[in-house]
Amino acid sequence: MSGTVITYGTFDMFHIGHLNLLRRLAALGDRLIVAVSTDEFNHGKGKRTLIPFEQRAEIVRSIRYVDEVIPETRWEQKLDDVQQYGIKTFAIGEDWAGQFDFLLPYCEVVYLPRTEGVSTTDLKRSLNRFSSVSRDDLLHAFDVLDALRKDFG
Ligand code: CTP
Repeated sequence: MSGTVITYGTFDMFHIGHLNLLRRLAALGDRLIVAVSTDEFNHGKGKRTLIPFEQRAEIVRSIRYVDEVIPETRWEQKLDDVQQYGIKTFAIGEDWAGQFDFLLPYCEVVYLPRTEGVSTTDLKRSLNRFSSVSRDDLLHAFDVLDALRKDFG
């Protein structure tokens, strides 16, 4: 297929769902532009990223399906980008279904299925669980201390 495709996203803690999406997006045209949300833009949405913008942008730029990375700094830039870059297709995961139909007079708008079972939110939750000491470990440590106190105290 021909034409330039554009997508928008944070791409924090880059995962297989992101990779699958970029591969599918690239297949929709012959050039893929990815607008990566800046830390300031995310901050304004109340979203905190683990990986800073420069690194997220660098990772996405290194993916072979991606031709260009631009910063996403404000909600309203989409129409400007579509016109400035001569976009044929705006595409994004279906968690955004219907929300960008206002671009329909200017380009195709496509919502792609998400990869099941993976998201940055889930990864952050796992990391939290992984890095916090479990209640059982804590109780076990108290038992050990108690035993030591009895033996030596
Ligand atoms: N995406 C996807 N499949 C997933 C996760 C994300 O196709 N399992 C897509 C989203 O639909 C979006 C793009 O990847 O078009 C960037 O999404 P982003 O919000 O950065 O990733 P999420 O993992 O959804 O992050 P979060 O949990 O913070 O929303």
